[in-house]
Amino acid sequence: MEKKILVTGGLGFIGSHTVVELQNEGFEVIIIDNLSNSTIDVLEKITSITNIKPTFFNLDLKDKKEVHDFFNQNEVDGIIHFAASKAVGESILKPLDYYENNIYSLVNLLQETTQRNLNNFIFSSSCTVYGQTDELPITENAPIKPAESPYGNTKKINEEIIADAVKAHGLKAISLRYFNPIGAHSSAKIGELPLGIPQNLIPFITQTAAGIRQELSVFGDDYPTVDGTAVRDYIHVVDLAKAHIAALNRLLKNQQKNNYEVFNVGTGKGSSVLEVIKQFEKVSQTKLNYKIVGRREGDITATYADTTLANNELNWKAELTLEEALLSAWNWQKTLK
Ligand code: WQD
Repeated sequence: MEKKILVTGGLGFIGSHTVVELQNEGFEVIIIDNLSNSTIDVLEKITSITNIKPTFFNLDLKDKKEVHDFFNQNEVDGIIHFAASKAVGESILKPLDYYENNIYSLVNLLQETTQRNLNNFIFSSSCTVYGQTDELPITENAPIKPAESPYGNTKKINEEIIADAVKAHGLKAISLRYFNPIGAHSSAKIGELPLGIPQNLIPFITQTAAGIRQELSVFGDDYPTVDGTAVRDYIHVVDLAKAHIAALNRLLKNQQKNNYEVFNVGTGKGSSVLEVIKQFEKVSQTKLNYKIVGRREGDITATYADTTLANNELNWKAELTLEEALLSAWNWQKTLK
């Protein structure tokens, strides 16, 4: 009997790529998404990739009754929880919306799962919880610093909520702390779909190369790094999706060492903004129009993961290169109108 997995936010960037990998692995997928930051056509795109249509519910996880009714009517063997507001800048302007959405949604979900002894819960967390660490690469034991944004704070708070639910109710959970997810599925049928002006580097680069944006602003070249621009750990979204399958199998096979575990999910390699630009120009064979401007408020100098724990315990390792990720992002951009 196929295991049934609920994917909240399953029509979003990382969610949709994870749904594809779940279906490739033979799982039956149910998606809950309220379409606040995704579009319904992603459902048919996923179906066109795997030839399996996921079951879809347009529900708002903030609505306690909707969540309760869903679990009354649907039995699942595991949950991967992506659904959340995730724009750092927007969270600074609308903190209460971010706390309401990101925290209520999680609490409503956990109220249902713990009352039904539904274990196997995977949470989409972020390296944002570390802030600027003193040491690099970053291990899971690095101290959790005060959040740089309400968005980052909701990730921190949600991890604590999950830890308390595990202690009180015997929930089995894994939080995956993503570094910087980039790229798109090789089919170029799904990818990152930023609404409005992209906040993140890669979509801004591909939109500039596509002529949608005039010029990329590089936020600062006076950081203490290889070339003065900030360093991040850019991981291909398909590698990131596969890390969720590895985490899910660990839970389903009862291989956890603790009922709550946290893993960094990155490549373990840092790349500067200028290095990314150079790689993009190489794979796209275009010249990118950019200028150096001042630093962006809240940005950190450098972050990249120590992935030893995920490599050893999840038997997972990022396999795709930065170049492959950038080329897949470019191929995806070229399909967009
Ligand atoms: C990357 C680098 C910028 C845009 C954010 C969230 C994090 C996670 C990933 C959700 C930085 C520089 C960017 C631009 C630039 N999201 N940059 N010009 O800020 O590392 O992380 O997205 O979990 O939580 O904080 O990603 O892509 O915005 O920036 O120079 O137009 O590119 O300064 O050094 P970031 P990013």
